Amino acid sequence: MKGTLTQALGQAISKPVIAATAAALIGILYLAYVPNARASADGYGDSGAGAKLYPACTSCHGAKGQGNVGMAAPKLTGLPSSYLLKQMQNFQSGARGMAAGDSKGRQMAAMSKSPRLMRDGALEDLVAYIQSLPDEPAAQTMAGDAQRGKGLYNSCASCHGASGQGIEGMGAPPLAGQSDWYLLAQLQHFAKGRRGYEPQDYRGQQMQGAMSVLRSPDDYQAVVAYINTLGP
Ligand code: HEC
Ligand code: HEC
Repeated sequence: MKGTLTQALGQAISKPVIAATAAALIGILYLAYVPNARASADGYGDSGAGAKLYPACTSCHGAKGQGNVGMAAPKLTGLPSSYLLKQMQNFQSGARGMAAGDSKGRQMAAMSKSPRLMRDGALEDLVAYIQSLPDEPAAQTMAGDAQRGKGLYNSCASCHGASGQGIEGMGAPPLAGQSDWYLLAQLQHFAKGRRGYEPQDYRGQQMQGAMSVLRSPDDYQAVVAYINTLGP
């Protein structure tokens, strides 16, 4: 009688215990395997870990990294990992966003210094996640003298590419498909010394030098209107 009771109890206990053990084992195997499987194609980081960091970006850059004009926050998709990483590092180090009068850059700089993003590898993980988001060209919001802009763009092509596709080796990001209002704002930043102000920011300084061919806000408008005609 006693034996059968123990047996019955044993069976009743062991089934859920076995199920729980199996579930835990599957969980451990899953965790051990999946991060490797998710490493980004260009080897920058773990997009699974980056997905957990990205919600902090959504309110400004959108759930799919599509950008948000209301927050002055650009589209993040379609940019090479090396460029994304460098900009995040610039914001963290103070090489971008800390110039006097750059209130939007300051918001982004503050954001980049959140403790979760300061750990080793966090920025690489975030970049890997952004790389996994689908890229759509941004909606166009402005017009200008694209014909004149075409002539001005000749001097940009050596770094940004004839189709505005970007040249990674030059550190020059793609311009085609990026939000026109954001491109315009950045040209103003470079012109006013609000970007590329740090002597160690070699790429930013190069771009600041390239601004000398654009002589007026009309020129900025014209060159961006031309970039709007360049398909990705
Ligand atoms: C409070 C709003 C806000 C939040 C939150 C925010 N950003 Fe930004 N971000 C901006 C703004 C505004 C800019 C443009 C700054 C400028 O004009 O120079 C920007 C610029 C950037 C750029 C530069 C893009 C380029 O083409 O050079 C990157 C990269 C970026 N953000 C990534 C992120 C990531 C990743 C997160 C989340 C960890 C994030 N941002 C969170 C507002 C924000
Ligand atoms: C000598 C090479 C060079 C030339 C010429 C050049 N650029 Fe750039 N440009 C760069 C680099 C490098 C960066 C990235 C700077 C950084 O790392 O912050 C950049 C960044 C930019 C950005 C900011 C993009 C973003 O996502 O934030 C804009 C807009 C831009 N360039 C427009 C132009 C235009 C328009 C011209 C022509 C008038 C031009 N550039 C000529 C090298 C160049």
